[in-house]
Amino acid sequence: MVHCTPLTCTAPNLPRTLEQQLELLVQALHDEARLLALSSALSLEGDYPRAPHCYSRTILHRGPQGEEVMVARWEAGACSPIHGHPELAFVRVLEGRLRVENFSKCGKTLEPGNVQELETGDHIWHKGVAHRFDNAIHRVTALEPSLSLHIYSDDALRGRTF
Ligand SMILES: [Fe+2]
Repeated sequence: MVHCTPLTCTAPNLPRTLEQQLELLVQALHDEARLLALSSALSLEGDYPRAPHCYSRTILHRGPQGEEVMVARWEAGACSPIHGHPELAFVRVLEGRLRVENFSKCGKTLEPGNVQELETGDHIWHKGVAHRFDNAIHRVTALEPSLSLHIYSDDALRGRTF
């Protein structure tokens, strides 16, 4: 499968109340239940850019340790590279449907693992090893036009790609 190169941008001037909610989300990264509750209360509709045949990443918030809150807008069929994550990662589907193919590292090779289909409201949360960027290795494909919320304990673009 051929992955695409996403468009990354930063959201301008968010309302102060939303900024405060995003700060709370970052502080809750260790707590899956709290992340679910806080993300359910968010109102994130917005004019997120379209990336033709791909996906866009709009950074909403950057925390003091590099933590990131991001909304991805996916075109149907768009596919990420196989990639790893910082220690903590939370992804929730706001609209649409995503397929997540998981991999595990076996020496220098990757072994395919289970495949998840996430629908609107579904989420994944993963706690890995601190200071590593090869946690929770997966590839994401949009099965339909989709919008997803991503919260990471560090800049997601530092995640290792394979
Ligand atoms: Fe990911």
